[in-house]
Amino acid sequence: MLDKKVEDLKVLFTKEQIENKNIELASKINEDFGPNEELVVICVLKGSTIFCCDLAKLLNMPVQMEFIRVSSYGNAQTSSGHVQAIDLTLPNLENKNVLIVEDIIDTGCTMEFLINILCRTHKPKNLKVVTFLNKKMARKVDIEPDYYGFEIDDKFVVGYGLDYEGYLRNLPYIGYFEN
Ligand code: IMP
Ligand code: MG
Repeated sequence: MLDKKVEDLKVLFTKEQIENKNIELASKINEDFGPNEELVVICVLKGSTIFCCDLAKLLNMPVQMEFIRVSSYGNAQTSSGHVQAIDLTLPNLENKNVLIVEDIIDTGCTMEFLINILCRTHKPKNLKVVTFLNKKMARKVDIEPDYYGFEIDDKFVVGYGLDYEGYLRNLPYIGYFEN
């Protein structure tokens, strides 16, 4: 059961700010890849589902969507630092343009793990990373995304795919609980 009240959430980014940011991000990605280069978009479940679908709709090249699932948080609000691969099933990505789509990069451990696996086992032609939120200050490994929506402080945020103990992913905005 959710032990917090949605009414207590402070809004960090509104639905409108999110929509505008997605248009901005997609236009950069469209420009970088061009309309004729095929792109494999890898959605990292579960957190990036909503962002990934919104972004994919704004891309104008032929897009193939793939889904993988990893876990690093469990139910705690701080990153455990070790990444658990739950489902990394992917088609052959050799010589393909690949875009990993994340909801948030926090310590960077998840992204480091994914980049290592993809480069080692798939040898893509081009591998880029987009994350909606970038908690730069919380980084424990040297990983930076190619594109990000907003940089945020080291606080626990929910909504727009991001969960608190499995809840609140469906909120159309991003918010946080003030302690
Ligand atoms: P990292 O491996 O520490 O970079 O963490 C990445 C994953 O932790 C993200 O993909 C999220 O699923 C989760 N995460 C990190 N920060 C938050 C947050 O503030 N709210 C909800 N989930 C988060
Ligand atoms: Mg995630």
